[in-house]
Amino acid sequence: MSGDSKPVESNQEGIHPDLEWAVRRHLAHEYLKPQAPHTLEAFQLATAWIAGRDLPLILDSGCGVGESSCKIALENSDCLVIGIDKSAMRLSKNQGVSALPPNLLLLRADVVDFWILAVCAQWKLQHHFLLYPNPWPKSRHFMRRWHAHPIFPTLLALGGKLELRTNWKTYAQEFAQSLFWADVKNPICTEFEPLDPLTPFERKYLASSHRLWKVEANLRPV
Ligand SMILES: C[S@@+](CC[C@H](N)C(=O)[O-])C[C@H]1O[C@@H](n2cnc3c(N)ncnc32)[C@H](O)[C@@H]1O
Repeated sequence: MSGDSKPVESNQEGIHPDLEWAVRRHLAHEYLKPQAPHTLEAFQLATAWIAGRDLPLILDSGCGVGESSCKIALENSDCLVIGIDKSAMRLSKNQGVSALPPNLLLLRADVVDFWILAVCAQWKLQHHFLLYPNPWPKSRHFMRRWHAHPIFPTLLALGGKLELRTNWKTYAQEFAQSLFWADVKNPICTEFEPLDPLTPFERKYLASSHRLWKVEANLRPV
């Protein structure tokens, strides 16, 4: 990926004025929707893959080509890592390794449906990565951002250590503020500069001299 990526542009100044209303509304209502058949199938595959292996579970949601999932799996050989992306095209791109680590499963699925299924099955995560989610910077699209989407309480119910990375400061600030409204203790929002990029988007943003932010929070003990 080249270093000519434009910084996120938005017609929104600061935190969206309706964010608190949206987050509190979603926290008060259970979000139910039917799951797409391909995600049901992917979830069954994941369930079979983890069955009988009593190991901590890490999700890399929206993993793109799966480069971060591979690195996370290699660095956490005592954990099971599942990388999920809705794009078959992205997942089919080679991750730069000839064979996936044995503790890694890459799946094509919609994370919204997958998270609902995982919570219903009482999964509890050790760690959950949301690396450079689509920012949806237009003000009128703010409810597509993960923290303003009705799926937000489901995401929180998965537990574990949550880590979001973004090149849009407002996304990080909104995410941390939404965690605070959801009574998550001490979300930490920091600007950071990785020495070794974890994902292709991170590499592209660094090459384009973008500033990067991360939000970390402990949702609850697993
Ligand atoms: C900006 S890319 C970042 C990819 C990767 N994490 C990285 O940093 O290189 C966002 C990714 O999220 C995926 N995505 C967006 N919405 C999704 C959803 N509902 N379910 C699964 N994947 C989704 C997209 O297909 C895309 O690969």
